[in-house]
Amino acid sequence: MADIKKELITMLNRALELEHAARIQYLAHAELVNGLGAEKIIGRLKEIASDELKHEEKFRNLIGGYLGGEPTMGLAKTHQAKDVKEILEVNLKGEKEAIDFYKQIYRKVIESQRDLQYEFETLEHEIRHVIVDEQEHIVELSLLLG
Ligand SMILES: [Fe+2]
Ligand SMILES: [Fe+2]
Repeated sequence: MADIKKELITMLNRALELEHAARIQYLAHAELVNGLGAEKIIGRLKEIASDELKHEEKFRNLIGGYLGGEPTMGLAKTHQAKDVKEILEVNLKGEKEAIDFYKQIYRKVIESQRDLQYEFETLEHEIRHVIVDEQEHIVELSLLLG
């Protein structure tokens, strides 16, 4: 297998671990929210978690289907939070870190276009769309944070 594909599999598996952790973290945090305006925040956290599930599926398919690798079952570090403000802040930070890393993967794909004859457009499209979703999550969390 070409080195670039191995490198992308490793990076995408790290991304998949981030998505696993993000989904579980949003769902766990959603159970901690109570009080005024709780319904709206719980609904939003669960909605974001369902986006992260879609991202997991995309990454698994890129790793397994397109690059011939093995999708990880691992989990990145999760973070606890004690109140709504902290929940929103900790997840906002996580979204920013995810975007920073996904942009590294995106740049790697762009640089490697020549070596990805039958994969390039799909990788470029899917990773860009995940980044767009994470940017939307940042807007949504920021709005709730006020
Ligand atoms: Fe995600
Ligand atoms: Fe996200």
